[in-house]
Amino acid sequence: MELSVAPNTAAGAWLGLENAAVLIAGAGGIGRALIEGFAGVGARVVAVDNDAARVSSAVEELDLEGRGGAGLVADLRDPDLARNAVAKAAERMGSIDVFVHALGMNDRKPIVDYTDDEWRTFIEVNLNSAFWLGQAAGKLMCAKGYGRQIYFSSVAGLLAHKHHGPYAATKGGINQMMRVMANEWAMSGVTVNALAPGYIETPLTAEHLKKPGVRSALEALVPAGRLGVVDDVVGPALFLASRHAAFVTGHILFVDGGRTLI
Ligand SMILES: NC(=O)c1ccc[n+]([C@@H]2O[C@H](COP(=O)([O-])OP(=O)(O)OC[C@H]3O[C@@H](n4cnc5c(N)ncnc54)[C@H](O)[C@@H]3O)[C@@H](O)[C@H]2O)c1
Repeated sequence: MELSVAPNTAAGAWLGLENAAVLIAGAGGIGRALIEGFAGVGARVVAVDNDAARVSSAVEELDLEGRGGAGLVADLRDPDLARNAVAKAAERMGSIDVFVHALGMNDRKPIVDYTDDEWRTFIEVNLNSAFWLGQAAGKLMCAKGYGRQIYFSSVAGLLAHKHHGPYAATKGGINQMMRVMANEWAMSGVTVNALAPGYIETPLTAEHLKKPGVRSALEALVPAGRLGVVDDVVGPALFLASRHAAFVTGHILFVDGGRTLI
């Protein structure tokens, strides 16, 4: 199937992303928007997620294979499966120019109510997957002397929201892991940054936002007066992945309508 709108190759050329080899881990609400955004400027995209339906829908609806990419299904908590996904993406595209970590989970409750297994699962899904994938992609990028890595952090990596204990811990961990990677890999032509959104309506937040009063209370905390939509993160991701961001590394870019100002 063809994309309904042909890739904007002029935009892709201007960004330096036309034909770029992009690995996106996570094909949920944000991941899917990113897959469309990168494919939309003519990049080749390999998408990996443990949800086979989400992967196949991206592959089929966006013709990822016809455009030089692919879809992979893997549980990215597992270091070997994560490394294998990076290897397969590099084999398919010849290299990895851009790696985006856009997967995660949340489950909101008071700190005292989390079980041991729940804590471990948060660390494995949100943080371990980022380390396994980022390390493997980083090795390839440093060897090539070029790369862009983008990690999805959150406003919860800065603010102390109640009922976000393990989630906030993993986002703080992502921020510091990203900063050390940025420092270690800067001389190798590899930039590493994070995007930190506020609330965006996706499968991650949909159930929470349906609870009485939650949406309006959260909107009231945002100077821009609204929650985010997935397209709000696509432009910032394309910028950080682009040739225009060559000297931008180690940053946490908040995409939150001003939420962290107050
Ligand atoms: N939606 C928001 O409001 C929001 C705000 C701030 C940060 N973020 C961050 O953005 C990223 C993407 O969030 P989203 O809103 O798209 O979430 P989502 O729930 O829509 O998608 C997450 C994806 O991760 C995949 N996944 C989960 N465990 C996995 C595993 N073990 N192996 C492989 N894939 C796995 C899921 O199948 C899903 O497709 C996450 O890191 C999230 O923390 C989201």
